[in-house]
Amino acid sequence: MSAEETKETVKEKYGQIALQVVNGGKGCCGSAPTCAGDNPITSRLYTSAETADLPTEAVLASLGCGNPTALAELNPGETVLDLGSGGGIDVLLSAKRVGLTGKAYGLDMTDEMLALAWENQRKAGVENVEFLKGEIEHIPLLDNAVDVIISNCVLNLSSDKDRVLTEAFRVLKPGGRLAVSDVVVRGAVPTSIRRNVELWIGCVAGVLEEDEYRTKLARAGFDAIDVEPTRIYRIEDAREFLTSRGLDVDTLAAQTEGKFISAFVRARKPVTA
Ligand SMILES: C[S@@+](CC[C@H](N)C(=O)[O-])C[C@H]1O[C@@H](n2cnc3c(N)ncnc32)[C@H](O)[C@@H]1O
Repeated sequence: MSAEETKETVKEKYGQIALQVVNGGKGCCGSAPTCAGDNPITSRLYTSAETADLPTEAVLASLGCGNPTALAELNPGETVLDLGSGGGIDVLLSAKRVGLTGKAYGLDMTDEMLALAWENQRKAGVENVEFLKGEIEHIPLLDNAVDVIISNCVLNLSSDKDRVLTEAFRVLKPGGRLAVSDVVVRGAVPTSIRRNVELWIGCVAGVLEEDEYRTKLARAGFDAIDVEPTRIYRIEDAREFLTSRGLDVDTLAAQTEGKFISAFVRARKPVTA
């Protein structure tokens, strides 16, 4: 599939998920225990104290694999950008943290997600938020405009991750921080198995290996790179799905146990950049 075709497929999929939420449902990913159940990737990411004041639809549309605003350092007056902001949950949480003297941008390419995010902003009644239409590979902001970039389970979806990281570096101010939740593979896992686990997880594709992630960040110019596991997935949870695809889970388990993780990835744009 070409990069353009991948992008169109991603837009179509997230457009449908946004409409599910608008129609009173919950955003769902993949074949992991779906909406009705306790999805091991997207559920229980936020505390009830964090979600209490948010519009229900912002919470129902949450499709992340972490809670970047809980782990990121965010200070009053700062400017935050969320790459692939979806229904806007992390943008609304960031806006609270940076206060009225700060600003939170969300960037997404899917019209239906943006419509949902704008509606969530209206319901939340917040003014220090702006949702932008665009691609994370071509961020529509000036150089050195942002203090913190967050993202929640989106970088894996890009077929040009180097470009995304170069763009993130460009728009960050010197000394600015990248604070991203993403699914990551630790160590070598055969590509076919990676693809099948990604299909099971659903909202991810093109998951990077941890060292590849570090190398790409360093190549884009970042320093202070850190990859901290926040959840470790058990291959056993995907048994039914993988078995239905003709894979022998007992054999796979030894090769993959502990290797699929959600991680909080931090890096900094050097002050001298
Ligand atoms: C897995 S969802 C995560 C949404 C949100 N971060 C959250 O935690 O709920 C991925 C989102 O990223 C957006 N997206 C994916 N690839 C993108 C790209 N290349 N440029 C802009 N947005 C993108 C999709 O439209 C979708 O809203």
